[in-house]
Amino acid sequence: MKMAKIKLIFGFLLLYASAPRSHAADTITANQILRYNQTIISPQETFELGFFSPGNSINHYVGIWYKKISTGTVVWVANRKTPLTHTSVELTLTLQGVLILRDATTGTVIWASANSSTTSARNPIGQLLDTGNFIIYDNNQENPIWQSFEFITDTFLPGMKVGWNLVTGTETRYTSKKSDDDPAAGEFSAGLDIRGYPQTIVTDGLEIKFRDGPWNGLRFSGAPNLRPNPIYNFTFVLNEKEIYYQYNLINTSVFTRLVLQPSGRIERLLWIDSKQVWDIYLTRQNDICDQYAVCGPFGSCNIDNSPVCECLKGFEPTSPDQWRVGDWSQGCRHTVPLDCEPGEGFNKYSNLKLPDTQRSWYNMTMTLVECEKLCKKNCSCTAYTNANISGSGSGCLLWFGDLNDIRTFADTTGDTLYIRMPPSELDSIEKSQSSGAGRRIRVIVPIAFVVLIILVSICLFYRYYSKKHQQQGTSENDEDLELPLFGLSTLLKATNNFSMNNKLGEGGFGPVHKGVLEDGQEIAVKRLAKTSTQGLHEFKNEVILISKLQHRNLVKLLGCCIEGAEKMLIYEYMPNKGLDSILFDKTQSKLLDWPARYHIIMGIARGLLYLHQDSRLRIIHRDLKVSNILLDKDMNPKISDFGMARIFGGNQIQANTNRVVGTYGYMAPEYAGNGIFSIKSDVYSFGVLVLEILSGEKNKGFVHKEHWDNLIGYAWGLHNAGESLQLVAKCLGETINVSQARRFVHVGLLCVQGHPEDRPTMTSVIMMLGSEISLPSPKEPGFYFGKTKHDTNQSSSSYGTSSNNELSITMLNGR
Ligand SMILES: *[C@@H]1O[C@H](CO)[C@@H](O)[C@H](O)[C@H]1NC(C)=O
Ligand SMILES: *[C@@H]1O[C@H](CO)[C@@H](O)[C@H](O)[C@H]1NC(C)=O
Ligand SMILES: *[C@@H]1O[C@H](CO)[C@@H](O)[C@H](O)[C@H]1NC(C)=O
Ligand SMILES: *[C@@H]1O[C@H](CO)[C@@H](O)[C@H](O)[C@H]1NC(C)=O
Ligand SMILES: *[C@@H]1O[C@H](CO)[C@@H](O)[C@H](O)[C@H]1NC(C)=O
Ligand SMILES: *[C@@H]1O[C@H](CO)[C@@H](O)[C@H](O)[C@H]1NC(C)=O
Ligand SMILES: *[C@@H]1O[C@H](CO)[C@@H](O)[C@H](O)[C@H]1NC(C)=O
Repeated sequence: MKMAKIKLIFGFLLLYASAPRSHAADTITANQILRYNQTIISPQETFELGFFSPGNSINHYVGIWYKKISTGTVVWVANRKTPLTHTSVELTLTLQGVLILRDATTGTVIWASANSSTTSARNPIGQLLDTGNFIIYDNNQENPIWQSFEFITDTFLPGMKVGWNLVTGTETRYTSKKSDDDPAAGEFSAGLDIRGYPQTIVTDGLEIKFRDGPWNGLRFSGAPNLRPNPIYNFTFVLNEKEIYYQYNLINTSVFTRLVLQPSGRIERLLWIDSKQVWDIYLTRQNDICDQYAVCGPFGSCNIDNSPVCECLKGFEPTSPDQWRVGDWSQGCRHTVPLDCEPGEGFNKYSNLKLPDTQRSWYNMTMTLVECEKLCKKNCSCTAYTNANISGSGSGCLLWFGDLNDIRTFADTTGDTLYIRMPPSELDSIEKSQSSGAGRRIRVIVPIAFVVLIILVSICLFYRYYSKKHQQQGTSENDEDLELPLFGLSTLLKATNNFSMNNKLGEGGFGPVHKGVLEDGQEIAVKRLAKTSTQGLHEFKNEVILISKLQHRNLVKLLGCCIEGAEKMLIYEYMPNKGLDSILFDKTQSKLLDWPARYHIIMGIARGLLYLHQDSRLRIIHRDLKVSNILLDKDMNPKISDFGMARIFGGNQIQANTNRVVGTYGYMAPEYAGNGIFSIKSDVYSFGVLVLEILSGEKNKGFVHKEHWDNLIGYAWGLHNAGESLQLVAKCLGETINVSQARRFVHVGLLCVQGHPEDRPTMTSVIMMLGSEISLPSPKEPGFYFGKTKHDTNQSSSSYGTSSNNELSITMLNGR
C-alpha cells in the first residue's frame, strides 16, 4: 500500500520530468523557482530532487530519492519537521546561497537550509550530484557553502562522513524517522561518541541503546562481520581536524545504503536489480547480546551460552539472587576486591567486544608496554589494550571505572583486553614473571619444549604435504588452488578402498565414507555422483568458493579430489553423526535436554544466517533437514551439504530453477510446486526443523489420532488452541524453559507460513528467538507433500541414517 503510493507519486513526477516542457537540469540558479511538480536530476540520472509524499501521508516534503532504481526510495528530506499541507509552494535559491522553501501565496518561509543573515555568496548555484549530495557553491564545487551530506536524515549514503569536524565543532549524525509515513525525527539517532576514544553508538535520547564499539584499526570492535567485501570499502579517520566513519562504493553501478530504521536498528540494504528490491545485506543488533550493557558491569554476553550472561573470569555476580533469576543489571564485581596495592597486575581476556569507551583515554603512538605502565600507575585505570590492532599493534587505550557492554565472540574475531586484577587473582605466568628467577625457569623450560614440539610437527607436516602434492598428477596447474587437493591414492588408502564398512551414508550427491589419513586425522569423503553438468574448471571454482565459507555452525570443507572422472569432497568428520540418528531415536533422544535443543536450534539459525547474509556468496541451502545437521563431539550443530546446488551447477542467481533439489516435508510450497526458491524457502525448511527438534517427531509421516497428517498442521492447531507446549517432547521433562519453548514453537510457525513474504528473514528469526520482543501472529502454514507417487530416486542426506520414509527428490521440470 505504502509502496504503491510512493510509486504513484514517483510515477507522476517521472511523467512530468519526461514532458518536453521540463528540462532535466541538475542545477538550480539564484532566484530560480522549483514548483510542486518540477524536479532536478543528477547528471547520470542517479538521483532526483523534488516534492513527495511518504507512505499514506497527505503531507508533502522536499527530498532526494533514487531515480535510476525506481522504488521511490527517499534518502534525504529537507523539511522533515515542517511538512507542507498544500502544493502551492516554491523552492528557490536565494542570492545569499540559501535554499528556501516558501508558501507561494503568502511568501512565508517554511524551511531554509541556513540562516540568511549569516551567509553570503556570489552567483550561487545549487547542484544535485550523482552521489545524492545536493551542494550549494559559488566559486568552486570542491568547497561548497552548504551540502545536504552534512545534514543527514536517516540514510547514511556512500561518501557521507558520520562523525565530527573538530575545527568547527559540528557533528554529523543520522536520526530515524518517526514512521514510514512521517519523516520527522524519531526516537533514535546514530553517530560517533567522542567523550573518550571514539565509538559508534545508537542512542534513544541520552541513553545508549546499542554500541558498535570503538574502531580497532580494522573494524568496529563489536562488528566482526565488517570485512573487506566486493561492494564497498570503508575507512575511519581520526586526526586533530576530524573524526569520522565513511564508506564508498567500489563499483558505482551497485547500490547500497545504511538506514537507521524507526525501530532503532541500523540496516545495510543492497539493491538487487534482478528482483527490484532492497535486501538486507548486513545488520547488527541481531540478538540479545547487542542490547547495550545487558549483562551489567564486568559481565559478558555470549549468545552461545544459556543463560547468555556470565561474569568475566575473576568476577562474581554483584547480586547473586537477582543474577540467578535472569536480572543481570547489577553485573559483576571482583571476587577479590581491588585495593590499589602495588602487586596488582593485569589478566588477558580474548575474543571480546571492547567495553564502552565513554570513560577512556587514548594515545595513538604509545606501545603496549608503555600503556600497561601508565594504567598500572593510576588506580582508577581498570583496563588497557592496543588502540590499533592493525599490523603488530600500536597505540594505547585506557579505561577508567566499570567495564560495560562486553560480549564474547565464539570465533577468534574479537579483541583482546587486559583487565586489572588483585595480586592473588593474576594468571600464573604473569605471577612467576614477577617473582623469583627459579620459578621463571620452571615455566620457561616447559614452554620452550612445547614450542620445539610445535616447530618440529609443523616441519613434518609441511614435508608430508609437499610430498603428497608432488605425487598428484593432474593436468592443470594447481598452484593457484587455495584448497588442498587430495590424491585418489591417499583417499583409497584412508577409506580402505571405499569399503562398505566405512560407509557413513548414501546421499543424493553420492555416498559418504569415513576415512583416516596417515596422520590420524578423521575425515568424511563424499564421492560425487557423476551427474554434475559442470566442467572441471567451474567445479573447482565453486569448491574453492564454498571452502572459503567458514563458520562454526557449518561443516568444514577440508579439500577436494579430482582425478579422472572422480570428483570428491573431503570434510571434517563429525563423531556424533546426523542429528536425525539421535533426535528420532527413542533412547538417544533423552540425551537432548532443553539446553541442548536450544543450543542446536540457535546454532543452525546462526549457520543459516551466515549462508544467507554474512558470507560473500549468499548461499541458499535448498535441502535443509535434520539429517543434514551434523553434531560434533560437543554436540555443536553444523550444517552440511551447503553449496551443493552451486557445485552441481544449479543456477543460483535466477530465482527459478528447473532442477528441484529437496526433501518432501521440508520444502516450501512455492519451491516444491513451482521451483521458486529464495532465502525464504530455506526459512521454511528451518521452521520445519525447529518444530521437529522441539517435538522429536518427523514432519512427514507424522500421524496423530485427531487426524492431523503432518506435524506443521498439528503445531498450528495446538498454537491456535493456546496449547503449543503440548508439542514439545515429553522426555524434556524438568529441563524445559516454558517461555522459551512457547516462543520457539511460535517462531517455527512464523517460518512455515504459506506466503514467502510473510516469513521472517534469518536475521529476524535470531532476534525473535534470542530476545523477549513481542512476536507477530503467524498466518496459516503452507504445505506441500506432492503426489503420492514415490517418484523419487535421490536422497541427499549427508550421512547418518537415510531412511525410506524420508526421501529426497530431484525433479526435472520441462521448462
Ligand atoms: C504542474 O505544472 C503545470 C505547468 O507549470 C501547472 O499548470 C500545474 O498547475 C502544476 N501542477 C501542480 C499540481 O502544481
Ligand atoms: C540568524 O542569525 C542572526 C544573527 O546572528 C540571529 O539574530 C538570528 O536569531 C538567527 N536566526 C535563526 C533562525 O537562527
Ligand atoms: C574505496 O574505493 C574507491 C573506488 O574504488 C577508491 O576511490 C577509494 O580510494 C577507496 N577507499 C579506500 C579507503 O580504500
Ligand atoms: C560494475 O558493475 C556492473 C554491473 O554489475 C558491471 O557490468 C561492470 O563491469 C562493473 N564495473 C567494474 C569496473 O567492475
Ligand atoms: C603520546 O605518547 C607519546 C609517547 O609517550 C608522546 O610523545 C605524545 O606526546 C603523546 N601524545 C599525546 C597526544 O598525548
Ligand atoms: C587517574 O586517571 C583519572 C582519569 O583520567 C584522573 O582523573 C586522575 O587524576 C588520575 N590519577 C592519577 C593519580 O594520575
Ligand atoms: C594503525 O596501524 C597501521 C599499521 O601499523 C597504520 O598504518 C595506521 O595508520 C594506524 N592507524 C592509526 C589511526 O594510527
